[in-house]
Amino acid sequence: MARTIIEPFRIKTVEPIRITTRPERERLLREAGYNVFLLRAEDVLIDLLTDSGTSAMSQEQWAALMRGDESYAGSRSWYRFEAAVRDIFGFAHVIPTHQGRAAERILFAIACRPGDIVPNNTHFDTTRANIEQAGAEARDLPCPEGRDPAAVHPFKGNLDVRALEELIREAGPERIPLVLVTVTNNSGGGQPVSLANLREVRDVTKKYGIPLYLDACRFAENAYFIKLREEGCAERSVKEIAREMFSLADGCTMSAKKDAFANIGGFLCTNDPELAREERDLLILTEGYPTYGGLAGRDLEAIARGLEEVLDEDYLRYRFASTRYLGEHISRAGVPIVEPPGGHAIYIDAKAMLPHIPPSRFPAQALACELYLAGGVRGVEIGSVMFGKKDPATGEEIPASMELLRLAIPRRVYTQSHIDYVVETILEVHEHREAIRGLRLTYEAPFLRHFTARFETAE
Ligand code: F0G
Repeated sequence: MARTIIEPFRIKTVEPIRITTRPERERLLREAGYNVFLLRAEDVLIDLLTDSGTSAMSQEQWAALMRGDESYAGSRSWYRFEAAVRDIFGFAHVIPTHQGRAAERILFAIACRPGDIVPNNTHFDTTRANIEQAGAEARDLPCPEGRDPAAVHPFKGNLDVRALEELIREAGPERIPLVLVTVTNNSGGGQPVSLANLREVRDVTKKYGIPLYLDACRFAENAYFIKLREEGCAERSVKEIAREMFSLADGCTMSAKKDAFANIGGFLCTNDPELAREERDLLILTEGYPTYGGLAGRDLEAIARGLEEVLDEDYLRYRFASTRYLGEHISRAGVPIVEPPGGHAIYIDAKAMLPHIPPSRFPAQALACELYLAGGVRGVEIGSVMFGKKDPATGEEIPASMELLRLAIPRRVYTQSHIDYVVETILEVHEHREAIRGLRLTYEAPFLRHFTARFETAE
């Protein structure tokens, strides 16, 4: 008999969470300008805003903190960190940073010139913003299945290789400083990229002499999807698959706040010694000396240990089961989600669920507010608030291609009854979906506006 897939750990420390009343939440949300980023975390019951930096660390990670060597240069913890990264990622040069976007900023500041184009399956918000900050254009080239939330395909995160080659021919390879592939494709629904797709992308980039980088935040989840879904991979270890993914690339950016179970940290890797030298020079200017890069020695220790633990296949089996559990329970009841469930999150298709709210009234943001009001559950909008653009000529809003509400599951944090509660809350909101109203923007920052935007309810 198939047994329940259980959490492969037990709880040693507990952190209380606070139940609020609906009238309290109505007041708190109004004060937060209908932007859940502006709530106090204390006022959130189940926090699915992000899986970034929110993991529970293991006893071995907490023990490793005590071994942190806080020497400024050449600390023992740095060498342990570098060895752990090299063992999986295999790149010649490892550059530590305080988180993923710092790695992005350094890479794009050096690699990109105004007028350049950086293709990706789908850029995440900070990646796009850092490319644009360098004067270049961030171009999304997801495979056609990846654009359709309801389409079921094993590797919806794949990059459209034909579109990539067309772009290179049209723009000219000299305008494309690098190609990125995000594993798994976060903004595209947490969907995986296949080894076959990575090999094809590598062949095209090699043909035109363009470096290939992985945005590797969720590399272990991507590798586990490959093990489960790609032909000939079932008997391979996740580590071996991860190593093959990285062997196809010239470098990577990484946020250790995801698949390294760390609360902070990241790194940048490359095989190019000249580029590494320039990156280290810039690192010293803004992040720190190259053997700590803005991190404490203890952070380096936690990451080194986390990278070992994340490849544990019992953990990954549980991780996928718990995400799928949420996805299946709501989709069976009729809630439209990005199919199939991703590794780290479930994405509700707000455009399909709330067809009466146009993109200009931010249906996924409205849904985020409703979930909070109904049960103190916090998700995040990945739609026109995050990725909408202004038409430079008319000032009119150009909506994002999808209006998603992401429910990201922190690693090793919530139990099945927490998720049952989330399911109940979503189903209650779904039942009353026709009464949900859209939102109007009252304040926005010039870039990455979703973090600080304020709204009012629209009629
Ligand atoms: N790339 C991807 C695919 C990401 O998901 C993130 C962060 C980053 C880069 C940047 O890393 O936060 O360490 O600077 N994503 C978080 C999220 C914030 O909620 O998905 P960072």
